[in-house]
Amino acid sequence: MIKLNVNGSTTEVDVDPNTPILWVVRENLKMTGTKFGCGIAQCGACTVHLDGKPVRSCSTPISAADGKSITTIEGLAAEDGTLSKVQQAWVAEQVPQCGYCQSGQIMSATALLKDHPNPSDDQIDAAMKGNICRCGTYPRIRKAIKVAAGVSASSSEEA
Ligand code: FES
Ligand code: FES
Repeated sequence: MIKLNVNGSTTEVDVDPNTPILWVVRENLKMTGTKFGCGIAQCGACTVHLDGKPVRSCSTPISAADGKSITTIEGLAAEDGTLSKVQQAWVAEQVPQCGYCQSGQIMSATALLKDHPNPSDDQIDAAMKGNICRCGTYPRIRKAIKVAAGVSASSSEEA
């Protein structure tokens, strides 16, 4: 049995320690907000937080979460259902197109804003470059990050 803390709740799962976090979250814990994209740590669709840091859950074994806290997209809203600042900005800016990459995008953006509350364009690029969006929502992602940070987006980002 592996003891986990997921979105603030402790739980135990009976899985092979090499099982990727992604499959434990989706299959064992039935939290399907975290998506499977490439499976080889290249696209970011599966991003979750491990002790607040973004990790690729498709390529991180559940054994790495032993004694640490996992946060998934399901854990970002407050208990009363109020969306996080980043989620609210995503809604306000209507960021998603197909939506498949977006929980990973939001998890990376949330971690970025924790480390850099007012991120520069370079910091946004560095934090988000590993999150691929086939629909090309990058300009809206950047704008939403700035909205969440309370920085108004410049006209160049609205193109
Ligand atoms: S599914 Fe994990 S990085 Fe693509
Ligand atoms: S919104 Fe479709 S892949 Fe990003």
